[in-house]
Amino acid sequence: MNAMFHRILVKFGGNSLSGQGDLERFADELGELIGRGYRPILVHGGGPEISKEMEVRGMPVRKAAGLRVTDEAALTVAEEVLSRINAATVAVLRAKGINAVGASAAQAGVVCKRKPPVIVIENGTNVEVDLGRVGDVIGVSGAWLDETLRAGAVPVVYPIGADALGYRYNVNADTMAAFVAQAAGAETMVLLTDVPGILRGGEGSSEVVHEITFQGIDELIAQGVITGGMIPKVEACRDAIRHRVSVVHMLNGRDPGSMVRKLIGRERIGTTVTQG
Ligand SMILES: Nc1ncnc2c1ncn2[C@@H]1O[C@H](COP(=O)(O)OP(=O)(O)OP(=O)(O)O)[C@@H](O)[C@H]1O
Ligand SMILES: [Mg+2]
Repeated sequence: MNAMFHRILVKFGGNSLSGQGDLERFADELGELIGRGYRPILVHGGGPEISKEMEVRGMPVRKAAGLRVTDEAALTVAEEVLSRINAATVAVLRAKGINAVGASAAQAGVVCKRKPPVIVIENGTNVEVDLGRVGDVIGVSGAWLDETLRAGAVPVVYPIGADALGYRYNVNADTMAAFVAQAAGAETMVLLTDVPGILRGGEGSSEVVHEITFQGIDELIAQGVITGGMIPKVEACRDAIRHRVSVVHMLNGRDPGSMVRKLIGRERIGTTVTQG
């Protein structure tokens, strides 16, 4: 790879960017980063849009021991919604002159397996919960990603993976981002979200932790400060760093220009995760 170019994985979801206006602003920002030698790879989620679509269709959200279960019907909705967001993202990037190429994780070379049942404690007893069509990533062939990047294009990946038999699974987008980052040889990973980083007082509080180590993450999880969607997010950050992604930031996607301000302007915003 040309040393001038710096591969960067950017993950966003429906909470961090929603609608045409946000996507256009995001595309402009990516254009600026590309102009400065960055070569982006995008992974996106779509949690809120999937929930909304299920509600519109009158599909109940199935839960077991508080965890969301993805049945076949829910997987189909997730796939439809994610591929629609993917196409919309690719269209906005192209309209801005960025040569984007969309793909599901399965098409991009990601191999999954069904997630084993998770054990949760409910009323003092251990309960096994089968999450359904939810996958773990077991490997990624970097060939498609590499070819796409070498052709000067921006891969845009949505987190539906498949196993060796072609069965499809929904994968958490942050988890997917960490695997795609490592397979694409990204030096930097940015997870855009709807909060300005890890909040020291937990969800809804205001003090941002600007730098955190692996051990610091363990402490905040044990203290119950890091909860919910922030757990797969910090795990994705640690995984990426363990697998040779040098720099990992969490930034607020709702804060205009946050990527350029962090990466180029070196502003003290967001949370940067280091091994410690
Ligand atoms: N200590 C914490 N600091 C900040 N946010 C926290 C913390 N603990 C829990 N959270 C929650 O984590 C959320 C971010 O994860 P979430 O999965 O909801 O968003 P996302 O990953 O950006 O979107 P998506 O999952 O749709 O791709 C925050 O909105 C907040 O509610
Ligand atoms: Mg999430």
